[in-house]
Amino acid sequence: MSKRKSKENSFSLGECIAQVHMILRARFCHYIPGKPFGVEAQYKNLMDLLKQTAVHGESNSVLIVGPRGAGKTMLLRSVLKELMEMKQVKENLLQVHLNGLLQTDDKIALKEVTRQLQLENVVGDKVFGSFAENLAFLLEALKKGNRSSSRPVLFILDEFDLFAHHRNQTLLYNLLDVAQSAQTPVAVVGLTCRLDVLELLEKRVKSRFSHRQIHLLNTFGFKEYVEIFQQQLTLPKEFPDGRFAQEWNQNIQMLALSQVAVSNPNIRLPDLLAASRLCTMDSKANVLHGLSVLELCLIIAMKHLNSIYEGEPFNFEMVYNEFQKFIQRRTHSIHNFEKPVVLKAFEHLHQLELIKPMDGTSTRAQKEYQLVKLLLDSSQIMDALQKYPHCPTEVQLWASSALE
Ligand SMILES: Nc1ncnc2c1ncn2[C@@H]1O[C@H](COP(=O)(O)OP(=O)(O)OP(=O)(O)O)[C@@H](O)[C@H]1O
Ligand SMILES: [Mg+2]
Repeated sequence: MSKRKSKENSFSLGECIAQVHMILRARFCHYIPGKPFGVEAQYKNLMDLLKQTAVHGESNSVLIVGPRGAGKTMLLRSVLKELMEMKQVKENLLQVHLNGLLQTDDKIALKEVTRQLQLENVVGDKVFGSFAENLAFLLEALKKGNRSSSRPVLFILDEFDLFAHHRNQTLLYNLLDVAQSAQTPVAVVGLTCRLDVLELLEKRVKSRFSHRQIHLLNTFGFKEYVEIFQQQLTLPKEFPDGRFAQEWNQNIQMLALSQVAVSNPNIRLPDLLAASRLCTMDSKANVLHGLSVLELCLIIAMKHLNSIYEGEPFNFEMVYNEFQKFIQRRTHSIHNFEKPVVLKAFEHLHQLELIKPMDGTSTRAQKEYQLVKLLLDSSQIMDALQKYPHCPTEVQLWASSALE
């Protein structure tokens, strides 16, 4: 095995690659909160809000709203990490983490709050008349000790919307009531993927909420994803072999990196060619080659609809009608199919993720009427048609007439 020499250190290539494995494995498999990508404004917003409570002792409430995997938890964790690095916050701020999937009623939730605040012994066998009394007792207990002022408490409610189903929304009401009125500085942070979450809140609960919301709507395009991947693959400054890390980080700009191994430590021309082929390959166009002629016809019908309705969503009935027009217009080899067969083909396109149901349309709507969008653009369709084996000429003509 070759020895690499660098000014400061000398590591064998094997050692370097083992290190790389270790770092990347830790990044991908264990949760180490890095800084989330592309959400700087939301990050600052949340940080400022939490600082108001943690540093200035003001109460607050906020909802972080976004679809699954949008990075709500990641955003919160990384803000908390930075916040807890401040000395005065670290010594002072208390955190209570609740999750609607775990604390399925308010009694369980209160028990968990008591446990996380380490007040089980203080509460002992005391019996409280109401939830509010119990919570007030807990917050009061935090004040005691050698501190004259209250310690700020951060209540984090993951799957926030589930707490709205608890009887009388007692926990939500009381936490938000404290956040709005009480002497103890508390911040209530709710995480949810329900955009309509406010509609779930009872009037008295809603009126106590600050109505601050931080939205995380992932709108990354291919370019951003490439950047995220590069960021994730970059070796840190502290990497033991500086020269290796520098070379590695330069090479990350290329897909050919995936070919690098101890037996193949350098990027060679064929690797670059293979990578460039990968870059230009369109996975959707590849999927199109495997479609039946009927499915292809439906795609072309959808393309028609897209140009007629300028990209507005459409439903199966509209696609079927468009297809029927084509069938009836010409005398050709494409024979008609029964409607259920066409519907099956349509559903297959959905499974292949070539069409996507619109968010917000009720899933209870009959599938023939559910609004969908086509996830292909005209150039992808034209490319695919050209390469489609034995594509009937009529279909090709129909496609090009639809696409100008
Ligand atoms: N902005 C981002 N920058 C970098 N990585 C991100 C970003 N957003 C999401 N991720 C990645 O996606 C993963 C999922 O994000 P996260 O668990 O925070 O989603 P979530 O919104 O909390 O989802 P859920 O509603 O299921 O709890 C994260 O572990 C992270 O690796
Ligand atoms: Mg989460």
